Amino acid sequence: MRTQVAIIGAGPAGLFLSLLLKRLGIESVILELHTRQYIEERVRAGLLEYNTVQLMHELGVGERLRRQGLEHGGIELRFNGRSHRIDFRDLAAGKCVTIYAQHEVIKDLVAARLAANCPILFETTDATLHALDSTSPYVTFRHNSQKEGAAERLDCDFIAGCDGFHGVSRAAIPAGVLTTYERDYPFGWLGILAQAPPASKELIYVHHDRGFALLSMRSPEITRLYLQCAPDEDLGLWPDDRIWSELHKRFATRDGWRLTEGPITQKAVTGMRSFVVEPMQFGRLFLAGDAAHIVPPTGAKGLNLAVSDVGVLAEALGSFYSRGSSDLLAQYSATCLRRVWKVQRFSWWMTQLLHRFPDDNPFDHRRQLADLDYVTTSRAASQSLAENYVGLPLP
Ligand code: APR
Ligand code: PHB
Repeated sequence: MRTQVAIIGAGPAGLFLSLLLKRLGIESVILELHTRQYIEERVRAGLLEYNTVQLMHELGVGERLRRQGLEHGGIELRFNGRSHRIDFRDLAAGKCVTIYAQHEVIKDLVAARLAANCPILFETTDATLHALDSTSPYVTFRHNSQKEGAAERLDCDFIAGCDGFHGVSRAAIPAGVLTTYERDYPFGWLGILAQAPPASKELIYVHHDRGFALLSMRSPEITRLYLQCAPDEDLGLWPDDRIWSELHKRFATRDGWRLTEGPITQKAVTGMRSFVVEPMQFGRLFLAGDAAHIVPPTGAKGLNLAVSDVGVLAEALGSFYSRGSSDLLAQYSATCLRRVWKVQRFSWWMTQLLHRFPDDNPFDHRRQLADLDYVTTSRAASQSLAENYVGLPLP
């Protein structure tokens, strides 16, 4: 098999890239480890930056998003039992964010790609990357539709490593090439989906002595809630009653605000880390999205950052195929990393602002409250939050 760009992974990075390339007339084949059903049902975050929404419309995959997405013109920061609104439309030049679950994005992108008769090979195992430092790289793999044991080979001009944090692409780069920058956090998030109308129209980020909490939503009927917990929290210790009781304590306000309860349909613990590798390229392999960097979920930047990477990559590949120029490809990593580090900074800042760290002392606690007071009373500070939250300009 031969194509121009072999894409490893059908997450947001791989799927957006494939549609961007198609628009430029560049062929690609996606190799995905899991089944279509698995990737279309996996529950992840659900907040799209302004630019991500625009891109979905431009690519012609925004029809369900237009109908079902919930536009949010602000968020609430809640601390000391009081809520303070950050008004994005006022502070970020009329921009807003949209709540639309990541797996719904995946469904829209997969449908568009298959409708255009572009291949996604699901249940591809043993993907192995070869000859990355040549002009004829290739990928070997096994595919479920093939006779057992039969190895396939995909020849290509470029490989896009869009296979997430645990994928094979980053690991295919020889030792000594990459520098890793990382930070682990001494907590995780216990996330639930509840069949309950959200108690607030907008997201509420809570700083509380008992730990961080977040109210989000998926629809006017479904609430998404998160609680700061131990990184290896045992879900067995969290029956529904205990989850609700803890949520009520953290969301409580001085004026008696109430969380709406409903049956819990999903529960999971997510770890938190910040991680970047540099450079995001080796020879003809380009890393994009979680394969190259991870942000903690505070601020919901993971998907949006993957989208901005592949925007840069598509433009660079477009310039290679249309004008024979490798300049933008050579700058790919540096161009992406400037934005990646700003988004890392923001995600870290939101995380350290709102969570309880086990070794915090009373000084740290006072400093967090001062930061929250500042960000909710200074126009300059709230504008900085707003412009990062709705999404920094694309590179
Ligand atoms: N071979 C083929 N596919 C693979 C392999 C492999 N060896 N390893 C992983 N994959 C697939 C995964 O099954 C997944 O569908 O690659 C895809 C990677 O998708 P994501 O993990 O979603 O990563 P990315 O596209 O970079 O999206 C980043 O989306 O899922 C969130 O937390 C993530 O918010 C972040 C954003
Ligand atoms: C979500 O809706 O899952 C979500 C929203 C905002 C965040 C993180 C997650 O900061």
